Amino acid sequence: MGAEANGSSSSLNFLIYGRTGWIGGTLGKLCESQGISYTYGSGRLEDRRSLVADLDSVKPSHVFNAAGVTGRPNVDWCESHKVETIRTNVAGTLTLADVCRERGLVLINYATGCIFEYDSGHPLGSGLGFKEEDTPNFTGSFYSKTKAMVEELLKNYENVCTLRVRMPISADLSNPRNFITKIARYEKVVDIPNSMTILDELLPISLEMAKRNLTGIWNFTNPGVVSHNEILEMYREYVDPSFTWKNFTLEEQAKVIVAPRSNNELDATKLKTEFPELLSIKESLVKFVFEPNKKA
Ligand SMILES: NC(=O)c1ccc[n+]([C@@H]2O[C@H](COP(=O)([O-])OP(=O)(O)OC[C@H]3O[C@@H](n4cnc5c(N)ncnc54)[C@H](OP(=O)(O)O)[C@@H]3O)[C@@H](O)[C@H]2O)c1
Repeated sequence: MGAEANGSSSSLNFLIYGRTGWIGGTLGKLCESQGISYTYGSGRLEDRRSLVADLDSVKPSHVFNAAGVTGRPNVDWCESHKVETIRTNVAGTLTLADVCRERGLVLINYATGCIFEYDSGHPLGSGLGFKEEDTPNFTGSFYSKTKAMVEELLKNYENVCTLRVRMPISADLSNPRNFITKIARYEKVVDIPNSMTILDELLPISLEMAKRNLTGIWNFTNPGVVSHNEILEMYREYVDPSFTWKNFTLEEQAKVIVAPRSNNELDATKLKTEFPELLSIKESLVKFVFEPNKKA
């Protein structure tokens, strides 16, 4: 894990997959703001030859995979599009890891932490989060089940840095993919504490992880948990004093979704040790999301 640091940004040349996506699009903007040379991959993940052609022409220092299918409007799509899900998220991701390994390139892979659910060893409210070495225990949705399989296989690729992203949030509250925007628009929401990823804080950290050539599995969430109601209360306090919402139970939620959703706490100690400045989830929400959106 972690070879020597890569030197100045002039030696960096990032190849990024996921140009049209939320995370991939944001990565390009970050590289621009930091003066890092980058190119978006034009290949499709499941087409090995197209990936090799990208590597040949770009000659990257590092590769970032923010490509994948997440389903529209949500992951329930994967339940009825299993082969398409396997093609990109399983065959495609493994192919990209393999071509990067052939060239000795670190692959920063935006994966998911939605492969765990609270259990007797990690009960809700206990503060005992799942660690990087824990075996995924959530197979309720096809999306999560296949992501867990890929994570297990990618452990054999010493060039891969697996980032377990969860319920991503950004300051852009107009983005329908933003977890805050999602729950603010739902007719009813459950109220369960979860680990979450503040992209405005963590995506820059992922660029730094590439510079440090970090590999292996990382819980890529802010330390601690926050519940749906706590987020919506902050939303009301900072953004819209007239905002109201309704809660429902997990059993009631199950009636309006196809596949169950994962709820968990991930232990972010490993990331916090590498990046001591990392804020807790509630601090990060205030600093990166709610203060910038505060109504005058
Ligand atoms: N958003 C979340 O809630 C969330 C949570 C945890 C983890 N993640 C993970 O983070 C990654 C990025 O998420 P995101 O929210 O940024 O996704 P997104 O907005 O849906 O973007 C996905 C990107 O992947 C590209 N793509 C899809 N299939 C491809 C293929 N076969 N070959 C090449 N490119 C392909 C898409 O391009 P085209 O339009 O050209 O297909 C698009 O640019 C995903 O792997 C996801 O599982 C997301």
